[in-house]
Amino acid sequence: MDRTEYIENAAKHFKELLSQQLDRQERMEKASPAKDFSKMDKIVVGVAGGDGIGPIIMAQARRVLEKLLAEELASGRIELRDIHGLTIENRLAQGCAVPPEVLEQIKACDVFLKGPTTTPKGGTLESANVTLRRELDLFANVRPVQIPEEGIDWMFFRENTEGEYALGSRGIEVPGKLSVDFKVTTDAGTRRIARAAFDYARANGKTKVAIVTKANIMKKTDGMFSRICQEVAAEYPEISADEWYIDIMTANLVNKEVRNKFQVFLLPNLYGDIITDEAAQLQGGVGTAGSANMGAGYAMFEAIHGSAPRKIEKGEGDYANPSSILKAAELLLRHIAMADKADKLSAAMEDCAREGRVVITGHKDGATCREFTDYLLEKLWFRQI
Ligand code: IPM
Ligand code: MG
Repeated sequence: MDRTEYIENAAKHFKELLSQQLDRQERMEKASPAKDFSKMDKIVVGVAGGDGIGPIIMAQARRVLEKLLAEELASGRIELRDIHGLTIENRLAQGCAVPPEVLEQIKACDVFLKGPTTTPKGGTLESANVTLRRELDLFANVRPVQIPEEGIDWMFFRENTEGEYALGSRGIEVPGKLSVDFKVTTDAGTRRIARAAFDYARANGKTKVAIVTKANIMKKTDGMFSRICQEVAAEYPEISADEWYIDIMTANLVNKEVRNKFQVFLLPNLYGDIITDEAAQLQGGVGTAGSANMGAGYAMFEAIHGSAPRKIEKGEGDYANPSSILKAAELLLRHIAMADKADKLSAAMEDCAREGRVVITGHKDGATCREFTDYLLEKLWFRQI
């Protein structure tokens, strides 16, 4: 292809992208209503282990859920349903991030507990997370991080369907010369994540929301994000909306003098991705943080970390930390109106951390995932008598 052909193809490609994104913006304006789980006769919880350490940590999370929900599982009010085929082998064989029959199984559930899934570097296979967030329109990535000894109780509201993620596999390349990626921010997409963050702040007595962008550089996309967040903030006069740039915010999080002043964070997708790993590490490691992906009608819960293929290669898979997927399970229980069970799980996890009799290091010098879960189940049992 010569230069003119590259430019013409790229222009055609860009036209298509813009038209698809405008359609998406219009669809967003007609959101589906939220479910009231407390009134539902039956709740179907989909469960998929995923890849790498995923099936190992998920097997343990399932044991914990089976214990906590024993009554509801026996009565049929809750069903834990295995989702088949969300594996890298099947996804590669079908050349599809989430094959249609797998997506159908997931959609047939009310909520979904998902193990980490591998995304090959390069190639064209999109991340399963990104596909699921888009297909199920899970626009809010909600990630709690707590450091009790410092009085830190952070809640991150990461926009989950836009930014670089929406178009990250739709870039343009002139081989050997240049590559271009795209980033998109929409009005409706920003408004709904901003509402979610401010509603959370209001409902939980928080007084501050930090809006984090790089609007001085990404003037169109982050500029719009920041402006719309401020418009939404005006509807919550009791909450202060402070503007920060992502670079200084990453510094703030490692600054013990200031970090306990932050409460709620509201960020576009990629900055939210990066800073929540930093925050999780401060809490005790990425293996310790859970993540909720919320839409209007559906929600998916997952560990914040990936499938850790290196851990499997080193033969350390059985030593993986199940805490992150257990935190995700806790968020799931809270979401389906079972806060009492969520509280029990979180209290038992705190008991384990405080007492520290069985410690997971992620390596062979620590406890295995199963040993840690045995310990947690013992603590749960003590809390039930
Ligand atoms: C996360 C992960 C995902 C992301 C990956 C696995 C695609 O890092 O949930 O934070 O980038 O969003
Ligand atoms: Mg991430």
